[in-house]
Amino acid sequence: MILVTGATGQFGKTTIDFLLKKDIPANNIAALVRDEAKAADLKSKGIILKTGDYNNYESLLAAFADADKLLFVSGNEIENRVSQHENVVKAAIQAGVKHVVYTSFLSANESNTSPIAMVGEAHIQTEKWLKESGLSYTILKNNIYMDMIPVFIGEKALETGIIYQPAGEGKCAYVLREEMAEIAANILTSTGHEGKIYPLTGNKAYSYGDIAKILSEITGKDIQYVSPTPEEFSKTLQEANVPAAYIGMLTGFSVAKAQGEFDIEDNTMEILLGRKPTSVTGYLKKMYATNELIS
Ligand SMILES: NC(=O)c1ccc[n+]([C@@H]2O[C@H](COP(=O)([O-])OP(=O)(O)OC[C@H]3O[C@@H](n4cnc5c(N)ncnc54)[C@H](OP(=O)(O)O)[C@@H]3O)[C@@H](O)[C@H]2O)c1
Repeated sequence: MILVTGATGQFGKTTIDFLLKKDIPANNIAALVRDEAKAADLKSKGIILKTGDYNNYESLLAAFADADKLLFVSGNEIENRVSQHENVVKAAIQAGVKHVVYTSFLSANESNTSPIAMVGEAHIQTEKWLKESGLSYTILKNNIYMDMIPVFIGEKALETGIIYQPAGEGKCAYVLREEMAEIAANILTSTGHEGKIYPLTGNKAYSYGDIAKILSEITGKDIQYVSPTPEEFSKTLQEANVPAAYIGMLTGFSVAKAQGEFDIEDNTMEILLGRKPTSVTGYLKKMYATNELIS
């Protein structure tokens, strides 16, 4: 039995779809969900639903009872993640899970000097627990999803013609979330990944300046990249009533980009995918070429 956590989320759900495409029988796939009402589509496909919460150790232990392989999708509540992930790793050990595949993060600076140290903390700790656990594991060190670019640049970027982020000339080798899920499914259905730590990052890194140029070419509009200081950026967002936690996160990611944390190119992703990964240019064309803002 392969058990996928975060199965009502985008990564988990897409991985399950890839497992089904690979002819893994639905009754050999289980989905950990917090709320079964959100999993009607999984149920209709014949996926076995297990109710559990990263905050509830006993629920995890019961859910993992007959899991041979576990895809552990990292949680999305940054402030509670360390204790949640500790529950997952401990439950996997106690339940006798044979192999854990974990979705971690990729950064050139895993120290607490990183502007996104609050994001990295749970990942670094979870990797350590897995390595010490005696479990067989595979760690997927995922770079930033290119699916996040529209979130980072904001929905008004095309309208205003400005990408406003304090990232300087920093670059990031973004990855497509769907392809990361495909890789997770490939790993869950093949052998030779025990004890492996895979840096999953794009073949090419892009700055916001590069993204502005690509968007200008795609849309025919003049899109400029403006890089304010982090202080100016935070002040602008405060004045626009953006919540403080969100400002901290956005600023942290951009400053980390400016410092080259995500400027890591590697071909492991291409090998595990079995083809060239989607490029940022290809993704932006798909996202923005039909956008109604382009008229
Ligand atoms: N590399 C990147 O750029 C990047 C970007 C964003 C996120 N991430 C990380 O990658 C993960 C997967 O991404 P995604 O896009 O699939 O995120 P997502 O759509 O937000 O899905 C997160 C999943 O985790 C589940 N979850 C959250 N807290 C839980 C808990 N306490 N107990 C059990 N399940 C819980 C959610 O359940 P519900 O449906 O019940 O809420 C959901 O199924 C995220 O959780 C985050 O750690 C990475």
